[in-house]
Amino acid sequence: MTVATQVPYLLRAAYGETLLRPPVWMMRQAGRYMKAYRELREKYPSFRERSEIPEVAIEVSLQPWRAFQPDGVILFSDIVTPLPGLGVDMDIAEGKGPIIASPIRSSAQVDQLRPLEPEESLPFIKTILQALRQEVGNKAAVLGFVGAPWTLAAYMVEGKGSKTYSKIKGMAFADPTVLHQLLTKLSDAIATYVCYQIDCGAQVVQMFDSWAGELSPQDYETFALPYQQRVFQQVKQTHPDTPLILLVSGSAGLLERMARSGADMISVDWTVDMADARARLGNMKVQGNLDPGVLFGSKEFIRDRIYDTVRKAGNRGHILNLGHGVLPETPEENVAFFFETAKNLSIRVEG
Ligand code: CP3
Repeated sequence: MTVATQVPYLLRAAYGETLLRPPVWMMRQAGRYMKAYRELREKYPSFRERSEIPEVAIEVSLQPWRAFQPDGVILFSDIVTPLPGLGVDMDIAEGKGPIIASPIRSSAQVDQLRPLEPEESLPFIKTILQALRQEVGNKAAVLGFVGAPWTLAAYMVEGKGSKTYSKIKGMAFADPTVLHQLLTKLSDAIATYVCYQIDCGAQVVQMFDSWAGELSPQDYETFALPYQQRVFQQVKQTHPDTPLILLVSGSAGLLERMARSGADMISVDWTVDMADARARLGNMKVQGNLDPGVLFGSKEFIRDRIYDTVRKAGNRGHILNLGHGVLPETPEENVAFFFETAKNLSIRVEG
């Protein structure tokens, strides 16, 4: 066996090797669209149980691995999972998302947040990541993930998901001191958590700043970018070799700014054409970017869109993915077809 074959294929793209096909995984590749997941959900109706009881979380993480052999296996968890470790009570409501018991609005509340001690508050993450590494060996890369400061702050301040972000924007635009204090504390906690995931076995870590696309570019530069940079800089100090991916939802207006975050790879969604993303991002590595809705199309349509994306992304520094999570009710057979098509690709480089 050569050394190259011992490196999970996904990492080779993350390191910028020229490859015959891009590695492929899917965001939310475990979840509601899978029958096996829905069955398990009946036995464990609470999301926190499913994601915090190691045996259950391991099983859920491995369901798509067994069904489709993606090149990446992502930890089944949520971005708000570390919050109880900071002293923030939360629950995850089925279909609705995170609920924070006492939303953060004051400086006193920020002062009370505890530094994250992952060994104490997140021991299950270690069990899960170690088991995933053990199970997939070198056949796939194990991905960890975290929420970014702005997006976690949005949940903590709003108390739940929001359409308008009026509470956090009120804080940002009326008197931002408390918000900056919160974002700073969160950055340090998130950096600690990324390092912990890497120490426990994560080979790539993706940071979701899902709601940073709700900010205008100038506000992104004040409330999102500096804190993304703070997280990535801290992680790189001790873990320079682990590829870090940044995702922002609806990011077409922000790509160049995202490239300044310190991430190694930018996850691009379908609001931008992959050829444009490549032109705008220069040498930056990219992930993406099919519309998850494509998986409701015909097999021919799915195949054409995969080919189109791969042709535009080229044969270096690209991980094929959807631009966002796979949608509930997506036919499992189309997900299977997506992976099969992607794994049988062979790129002919022209010119
Ligand atoms: O959606 C994104 O932009 C990704 C970032 C993100 C995650 N959780 C990561 C995640 C966000 C914004 C959340 C919050 C959250 N948690 C929501 C969105 C609510 C809103 O405000 O719109 C929801 C619905 C949850 C609860 C949740 N998390 C469920 C029900 C599931 C199971 C999967 C499913 O679709 O049923 C998750 C898992 C989850 N959240 C993963 C990730 C990366 C799983 C890992 C994976 O397979 O990718």
